[in-house]
Amino acid sequence: MKIIRAKDYQDMSRKAANIISAQIILKEKSVLGLATGSTVLGLYERLIHLHNEGELDFSNILTVNLDEYVGLPAQHSQSYRYYMDNNLFKHINIPYENTNLPDGMAKDIEKECREYDDLITGMGGIDLQLLGLGLNGHIGFNEPATEFPKGTHCVTLTESTVKANSRFFENENEVPKKALTMGIKTIMSASKILLCVNGKAKAGILKEVLTGPVTPAVPGSILQLHPDLTVVADEEALSEML
Ligand code: GLP
Repeated sequence: MKIIRAKDYQDMSRKAANIISAQIILKEKSVLGLATGSTVLGLYERLIHLHNEGELDFSNILTVNLDEYVGLPAQHSQSYRYYMDNNLFKHINIPYENTNLPDGMAKDIEKECREYDDLITGMGGIDLQLLGLGLNGHIGFNEPATEFPKGTHCVTLTESTVKANSRFFENENEVPKKALTMGIKTIMSASKILLCVNGKAKAGILKEVLTGPVTPAVPGSILQLHPDLTVVADEEALSEML
């Protein structure tokens, strides 16, 4: 595991974007696993900037996102498809058909999950998976549990996650209670993982994830076992580590 210390959010975003840029430059047909949330917004802005400067070409990149809410159509302003389109895809030269998210509106959820895993396998697996960290240690939407879920599956979100994500909705009742997410096996199969964490609120959980026991009660702790994990975190998030 490599831990890269960033001064603040901007610095974390720049460093993480540089790592993704290096991946794209080294392999122009990379499969990128992408994440949503506020942590990664700054790094998407930075990737857009690098693209506008003519430094990054996304025309051969394939993307697969970690997760999507169940029951929100793509046009809903809080769906992860909407987030990705508006915060990244629309602003770079990636062909729309190269971008993939689980379909939270699928009639047959089981089938959708199986097909999402098959899609990733068909692409030859993920070269670099970007991750944020939930306040309860979740990655993607793999919530604390008694065992590590394997493939893409449907989860019931914990109360704390619904609460944390309600800041984006009018009120807590509007937050979907279910989501589709890549499983832990899918995430751990990525060749490289890039975990970004910022802010004091995540200092305690980041310490648990990186130095505590590996347990499904703290889903992110499994990342300790990944052979190529890079953590880019700001000083506040790392404040309980030393
Ligand atoms: C959300 C997403 C995760 C994200 C995490 C942290 O619920 N499903 O993919 O990494 O929670 O979000 P944020 O970066 O906004 O703190």
